[in-house]
Amino acid sequence: ENIAVIYGGISNERDVSLRSGKGVIKALQNKGYQVIPMEYQCHKTLLKELLDKKPDFVYIALHGRYGEDGRIQSLLELLDIPYVGSGVLASALAMNKSLAKKHFEFAGIRVAKEKVYRKRDFSEDRLVEIVNEIESTFNYPVVIKPNEEGSTIGLTIANNRNSLLEGLQLAVTCASDILLEEYIKGVEITVAVLGSDQYIEALPVIEIVPKNDYYDYESKYAPGGSEHIIPARIDESATDTAKKWAVAAHKALGCETYSRVDFIIPETGDPVILEVNTLPGMTETSLFPDAARSVGLPYEDMLEKIVQIAQK
Ligand code: DAL
Ligand code: MG
Repeated sequence: ENIAVIYGGISNERDVSLRSGKGVIKALQNKGYQVIPMEYQCHKTLLKELLDKKPDFVYIALHGRYGEDGRIQSLLELLDIPYVGSGVLASALAMNKSLAKKHFEFAGIRVAKEKVYRKRDFSEDRLVEIVNEIESTFNYPVVIKPNEEGSTIGLTIANNRNSLLEGLQLAVTCASDILLEEYIKGVEITVAVLGSDQYIEALPVIEIVPKNDYYDYESKYAPGGSEHIIPARIDESATDTAKKWAVAAHKALGCETYSRVDFIIPETGDPVILEVNTLPGMTETSLFPDAARSVGLPYEDMLEKIVQIAQK
């Protein structure tokens, strides 16, 4: 049996995926799998490679658009090739932050107040009107993010009208609607979730301590950009709620195999969910592998376990 590892891709998270892919390929090879590395550079060549090599199974080491959003999953379904992780609908839902939040709310999980601007309704000449609307809905700081993007690409935390304007102009450059959210001050944590169907478990909660003001792209990927503290230094009830809600969020979207659920823990009150990552970063220093290591599952064993869960 062979496993193709698809990595790279054409999203803004290509660089992260190149690193996830490298780690996954090496780990699966060391575990004795016959690995076919497949770097995804454009749709056509990927499709051709899949048709030529007909892998038995695919490990999707992609992130973001065309990798994590149901598109590649749909292609693999058409080709009848089983793959790791969530299916088409769960992937697409998780990638759309605002739609996913509707499902979280329905499951009783706390979400941040929001407002969405469709990309098609957004234009430079409406900018002032939009800014006025936002200012009448939110107090500063307000968070501006592309509705369908990972790794905090295109995200701004605006403290005033000027940075709100700039943030909107930045977010609109991403091929996505724009999501505005109230800023919630607190500790950033994340929960790795492992499993499908009946058997779903939350791994220990990780606290993220970024070197910058918040967990931005640089903090995520520069060496020493952030510190991961396991278990998170939050109280027991916040820990329990975050773990319970991480599993509930995974189920609410219908996720499979694994996911990683991000939260903010405010100074008071319940955790606030940010999002579910259906194909979380898998570089050797990423959050998910760190959570696995903390329960005695080294990187290679973790990947073998993920493949086994996906193949069940
Ligand atoms: N979107 C990145 C890869 C993550 O969530 O880990
Ligand atoms: Mg995230």
